[in-house]
Amino acid sequence: MIDYKEIKRKFPFFKNNAEQIYLDSAATSLKPQVVIDAIGEYYTNYGTNPHNIDSILGYKTNVKYDIVRKKIQQFINAKKVTEVIFTPGATYGLNQIAYGLSSKIMNGDEILITKQEHGANILPWYRLAQEKKAVVKFLPETNFRINLEQLAKMISAKTKIVAFANVPNILGYENDPTSIIAMIRKINSAVIVVIDCAQGVIHMPTDVQKWDVDFITFSAHKIFGPMGIGILWGKEKLLLELKPLIVGGGMNVWIDSDGLNYSVKKIPERLEAGTANIADIFGFGAAIDFINAVTLQEIITYTHQLKRYAIKQFNEKLKDKAIIYNVDSKAATLVFNIQNVFCQDVAMHLGSRNNITVRSGDHCARLIGEVIPEKNTVRVSFSIYNSYKDIDLLVSALVDEQDFLGGLV
Ligand code: ALA
Repeated sequence: MIDYKEIKRKFPFFKNNAEQIYLDSAATSLKPQVVIDAIGEYYTNYGTNPHNIDSILGYKTNVKYDIVRKKIQQFINAKKVTEVIFTPGATYGLNQIAYGLSSKIMNGDEILITKQEHGANILPWYRLAQEKKAVVKFLPETNFRINLEQLAKMISAKTKIVAFANVPNILGYENDPTSIIAMIRKINSAVIVVIDCAQGVIHMPTDVQKWDVDFITFSAHKIFGPMGIGILWGKEKLLLELKPLIVGGGMNVWIDSDGLNYSVKKIPERLEAGTANIADIFGFGAAIDFINAVTLQEIITYTHQLKRYAIKQFNEKLKDKAIIYNVDSKAATLVFNIQNVFCQDVAMHLGSRNNITVRSGDHCARLIGEVIPEKNTVRVSFSIYNSYKDIDLLVSALVDEQDFLGGLV
């Protein structure tokens, strides 16, 4: 069982910001000391470019690099370690997939996404569709989840790609990858399925083999790891066909001086041009160890409990004031508005007057206004360093709205 006090002590942020109540972990999680130490360890003890394996330290850097890749392979249950590609984050990963699949898309082909997607899982597909004269269509949803029966009706020979978040970043209603992908495969086995796991990776176990998905992406920074690092995972065959978004050192075998010829390495190198962000890869490995030690299941259980408690408190104390948009989603976000107050004013009231960090706006999911009645909302998101008391303080700051707007000017 999570002992949040003990967990909280592992996060130095709270030593320096003891008064802060951090309720924005869906935007980025805080980092435990072990992750910060692992980043420092690279700069302090290793320092060498992983492309240099002739030195002892370069060799050791490479060994550690491979160990982290292996940890991630196990974390997502990938078949092969070489299927794990390091990227700067989920956005990069989704761009790489869309760019790399370009040659497979023809005039009139269809790409299916949902209206709850983050911009990172919309725009790469829009651009691909514009370039190839393909069509982007939206999957019908029931109770904020992809509707399987209607999905089945939309899949045809024209469908080339289906891309969705297993846990969308605002409302957090889970889309079950296994049943969705099985349904797609039943109708058209050639469809490429992409899952944006940016939020889902910390809210449900990721099992790419069980899901039978083709590509996934996520960033380390939402799962206690550093900024600027993430992964793209894909089935080996597809990764070998994916046109690299970035070309350069480390990914080629030879380059001719005439004829513009070059040859490209196998995976993972062909999709990892340039010097790796190795310090953050060390940190990423420490984040995976941290999650495994706490256990993903405990993280999921605890954050779901916080969410349920928050709903209960909102219902008791803010019944006539707050409109909640995702009462029955399990994932650890609570999305709401306070009647007659703009969401950003609520976030400012909480953030600047009560030291409670939350997010407001459309949370980069620009089409969300077509899913819920209000495009702009306040989003509270929970993690293992939060407590029931944090929720009590949030609720009382919202109850205590005297000078709510006046205090901001
Ligand atoms: N994708 C991040 C969020 O949902 C930034 O807040």
